[in-house]
Amino acid sequence: MEQTLAIKIERLQGQLTELGAVNRAPDGSCRRVALTDADAMGRDLVRSWMRDLGLTIHIDRIGNVIGIRGGQSEGRPVMTGSHVDTVATGGLYDGAYGVLAGLEAIRVLNEVGLKTQRPLAVAFFTNEEGVRFQPDMMGSLVYAGGLSVEEALATKAEDGSVLRDELSRIGYAGTMPCGEIQPHAYVELHIEQGPVLHTAGEALAAVDFLQGISWQKVTITGVSNHAGTTPMRLRHDAGYCAGQIAAFVRALATRMGGAQVGTVGSIQLQPNLVNVIARKAIVTIDLRNTNDGLLAEAEREVRVFLADLARTEGVTIESVRTAQSPSVAFDVHIIETIERSAKRLGYKSIRRMTSGAGHDAQMLARICPTAMIFVPSVDGVSHNPREFTEPVHLAIGANVLLQTLVELANE
Ligand code: GLV
Ligand code: MN
Ligand code: MN
Repeated sequence: MEQTLAIKIERLQGQLTELGAVNRAPDGSCRRVALTDADAMGRDLVRSWMRDLGLTIHIDRIGNVIGIRGGQSEGRPVMTGSHVDTVATGGLYDGAYGVLAGLEAIRVLNEVGLKTQRPLAVAFFTNEEGVRFQPDMMGSLVYAGGLSVEEALATKAEDGSVLRDELSRIGYAGTMPCGEIQPHAYVELHIEQGPVLHTAGEALAAVDFLQGISWQKVTITGVSNHAGTTPMRLRHDAGYCAGQIAAFVRALATRMGGAQVGTVGSIQLQPNLVNVIARKAIVTIDLRNTNDGLLAEAEREVRVFLADLARTEGVTIESVRTAQSPSVAFDVHIIETIERSAKRLGYKSIRRMTSGAGHDAQMLARICPTAMIFVPSVDGVSHNPREFTEPVHLAIGANVLLQTLVELANE
């Protein structure tokens, strides 16, 4: 029976485009940073589509939105979803694809009048990207009980705004306790955001592992002075230290090799003027590895480097951890269900792969059997307005999601 079900790609693409148009920048960037007015507009749009499908909508205390489609029996729903916030230079697909493909799957089931045994749920989780408030994957982390809602609500952004106020301001401070709806299983569909599938010319993968992630924010305080008159040996230059840290992180990841990656993605200097030695620098460090022990070793090397740098440059350096998630092995039963679904659609053997990016699925894996489906990203580009996935691949992923949800909800 499930074999005859098929999503309609024009509808999915239409909604991706409509959601992407919210606050889109002239260069094509999607800009729905968590808990901004643009995020609210995106949320409202997706919520209206949930309503059109007849879903019962719940909003929890951290602003996660969960739409439920009843089953033949009560009980734990099979959940899919992702996020609708973006980085400030996002593309059309990161997050939105998983949520809107979930809604398209529901639309198909509504049309054919197929009621699954268990209820189905489509969720979008608050602040997955973590660019404004840290940690990332915040809504799903709270949902899974890994962070208290009170602590999350008290989170402050760099601009001084408090998450609790922003959530209320945009109208998404819900009342449902976080995690009240415990899923039977969770499956998340996402673009790969890396080059593996595109390079191999493959349409699909089941994600069986997700690498560990460590973020820290480093504040360097030096002394501001005149760029022309201050002898080099008398400087306490926060800008120079920021540059040294970026170079060290790059060299460290290269030296360690294997799966180790390291990124300094943000450097803010004060006063940030051409002829003034920087008094202060704020530097972010993102370290990731599939091996938690090696990731801890990379963190240790950074710690030693920062202490040496503070000493030799006569500056103070403080580091605050802003996110840390260990690697996650996904559930074999869900992976095999994805593989069977792909097989039914003609994909005999699909790759199992590791996710380099963080996803809400890694948090849901704490409370229920979880796995993910990836489709290719052209040239492996993501967090960039050039992010693109061929419509044929969007359709394949959404169809595999649909089959997987139905099988899990009927088991
Ligand atoms: C989430 O997008 C991440 O940083 O991996
Ligand atoms: Mn994402
Ligand atoms: Mn992202």
